[in-house]
Formats: sequence, structure tokens, C-alpha cells
Amino acid sequence: MAYRHFEFVEKHVWLLGILTAVMVSLGGLAEVLPLFVEARSVKPPENVKPYDPLRLAGRDVYVREGCYLCHSQMIRTLRFETQRYGRFSTAEESAYDRPFQWGSKRTGPDLARVGGKYSDDWQRKHLLAPQALVPESNMPAYPWLASAAIDGNDIAARMRTLRKLGDPYTDADIAGAAAAVEGRTELDALVAYLQGLGIANEPQPVRTSALAPSADGRQP
Ligand code: HEC
Repeated sequence: MAYRHFEFVEKHVWLLGILTAVMVSLGGLAEVLPLFVEARSVKPPENVKPYDPLRLAGRDVYVREGCYLCHSQMIRTLRFETQRYGRFSTAEESAYDRPFQWGSKRTGPDLARVGGKYSDDWQRKHLLAPQALVPESNMPAYPWLASAAIDGNDIAARMRTLRKLGDPYTDADIAGAAAAVEGRTELDALVAYLQGLGIANEPQPVRTSALAPSADGRQP
């Protein structure tokens, strides 16, 4: 009986197509819908602060220059990843990232916890001429950043917009934005941004401690 039903479906390609599409859509919805609910429940922990003006400018340079085309900022919950890059990434670390910088495209290494790995000086030299420090690197050079000034009013305007989206900037933060980036270049901003990755946005390990790798790096 049931066999004959299957046979009927299999012999009518249009019906098979429609039923396949229905099943795939149901599967897709089952995966996607819970994420909408979950996204709303992601609240930035106390010590994850929105970007200060200089790092915000750096974040914009990072996005504009397309660094994400070669670098992810998402350490997966896999042992070889946590051993290489550090504790795995959590959603709340990216609470103030618009757009988020996750991804799996890695021509270069993951940068989620690169802050503090090198000195400011190393980062500057590396961005100006990567091959001078890492001869085999295929990362492009970004020499123009060193002479590009940052527009303070522009950063203040961005902070006002981000506040509308929920980032807790105060009036004083926004009023001080222009002064904070005064005289700084895009290179300064990008280095400040990189040096904060995994440090300034590091959430307290409390909420994720049950899942955190143990001292020997083993995953649960
Ligand atoms: C074409 C791919 C590509 C692009 C685009 C690119 N990078 Fe890289 N990046 C690499 C590769 C490959 C490495 C590893 C070799 C090296 O250190 O140069 C690297 C290394 C790095 C490192 C050192 C990471 C570590 O843990 O050692 C930083 C920091 C970095 N890139 C930042 C940037 C920034 C910021 C941008 C955008 C302005 C950028 N990269 C654009 C390919 C790229």
C-alpha cells in the first residue's frame, strides 16, 4: 500500500519536486526559527563595552578594506582551533559588531583573539608591508592608511546612529568623539581595533564556563 504511494510520487517528477521542496523548507525552518528567538536573548555582558571612538574608526577601516575576505573572527569549538587561537568565540562578544565578523574563510589566521599577540609597532609595520615581517605572506600592504586622517564628526555621527540601535553610548562619549580621534590616522585606528580584539570584548567566562575547554585544551 505505502509502497504504491511512493511509486506514484516517484513516477511524477513534478510532485516529487514539490514534496521535496516542502520537506527541505520544513527542515530549514526548524533550523532557522530558533535562532531568531535566540538572537534576542543575547545580551552583552557587563565588561563587553561598545567600541571607543578610535576603535570604532578602526573597525570601519577593517570592513572597508575587506580584511574579512581573508580573516574570520570566529574560533570554533574544535580542539585544534582553541589550541591555536584561544577560547572559542561566543555570540555576546560580537554584540556590538555591525556587521559581525564571523565566517570561515581563512586565507590568513583567525583574528578573534589577536589583541596583544604582537606589539603596536609590529602591527603597524605588518599592515604597511606584511612581507617585511612574514616573507611568505600573501597579505596585501595597506600603505595609504598611514596618511589617511579620521573625520571626528563622522565618528560622532556613527556613534549617534549606533545609539539608536541600542549601543549604550552616553552624550559625553559622543561629545568627546572628535577629540578622541583628533590627529590620529586610519592606521592608528586599525591597530587600536586589532589590539582590542579578544581583550576589550572578552566576556566573563562565567556564562560559558561549563563549555570552556579544560586546562589541557580538551573540549567537553
Ligand atoms: C589576501 C588575503 C588577506 C587580506 C585581504 C588580509 N590579510 Fe591579514 N593575513 C593574511 C595572511 C596569509 C596572513 C598570515 C601571514 C602574515 O602574518 O602576514 C595574515 C596575517 C595577519 C595578521 C597577523 C595574525 C597572526 O595571528 O599572526 C593580522 C593582524 C592581519 N593579517 C590583519 C589584517 C588586516 C587588518 C587586514 C585588512 C586591512 C588584512 N589582514 C587583510 C592574509 C590577508
